[in-house]
Amino acid sequence: MGEAEKDGYAAVAATYARVTSRWSRPLAAALVSRASVSHGDHVLDVGTGTGLVAREAADHVGAEGRVVGVDISEAMLAEARSAVPAGPGVSFVRMPAESLDLPDREFDVALSLFAVTHFADPAAALREMHRVLTPGGRLVLGAGGRAPLLSVAGVTRRVGRVLSLVESGGRSLIAPGFLEGLLREEDAPLREAPHLGLRALVALVESAGFERILTSWCGHEGEVETAEEFWELQVTVSTPARAWRACSRIAIASRQTTSPTIGDSREVPQ
Ligand SMILES: C[S@@+](CC[C@H](N)C(=O)[O-])C[C@H]1O[C@@H](n2cnc3c(N)ncnc32)[C@H](O)[C@@H]1O
Repeated sequence: MGEAEKDGYAAVAATYARVTSRWSRPLAAALVSRASVSHGDHVLDVGTGTGLVAREAADHVGAEGRVVGVDISEAMLAEARSAVPAGPGVSFVRMPAESLDLPDREFDVALSLFAVTHFADPAAALREMHRVLTPGGRLVLGAGGRAPLLSVAGVTRRVGRVLSLVESGGRSLIAPGFLEGLLREEDAPLREAPHLGLRALVALVESAGFERILTSWCGHEGEVETAEEFWELQVTVSTPARAWRACSRIAIASRQTTSPTIGDSREVPQ
């Protein structure tokens, strides 16, 4: 991960914890359920961020189990630690996914939500997950993507979108695509969101040594209540928006330094 992205997370870690608790919890629960995390399991959450998935797993492993969340951003890990009671069961450790400082065959389950595409070397990270899993261990990855076009979920979602557009008079806004679209229209110097298509991801998982690979789609949708919440959601979870906001701040800060008369420059809205 580049320094810019790491700094981007540092600036939003507290908000990230709040926003993902509201929006990603059902997906964290789906990951844990698909991995059949159960009593006594040793679970690793890679790219744990503010620890949403690790906490969800901790609810299932009981006192004999163990959950370790790893991430490269200390700011995100600090948020993760602040949300769990201190104890032997759950720990959060700073280490890169590509070189896990963990013994071979240590974990029954490895989980990773919305993180693999952010790793500098996803293939190396997947090999590491394979190394630290026991033979027969389970890996469940969650990556963003639309429902397959020809699936029940795909058709239902697309019909739902059309109906909501009709109902709202054609003004249904969807985050974080809305802000990313605006930035593109304005020709903002955008850092693209990390992306790895489903086929490419499956190929990487396979070449890391995993067998019996299954894929499925699950979604979660909700309505934001206020314009502020809509804005916050986008500038927190969208990589291009986070990077754009960090650059805007630097630009404003340098203008203030070189020209004190622009003392009333406005901060980009939060
Ligand atoms: C989009 S966040 C997802 C966080 C969390 N899994 C969630 O769903 O809320 C991606 C996370 O991957 C972490 N990350 C990026 N590159 C990494 C690497 N090479 N090793 C470990 N963590 C990394 C980031 O610091 C960030 O916390």
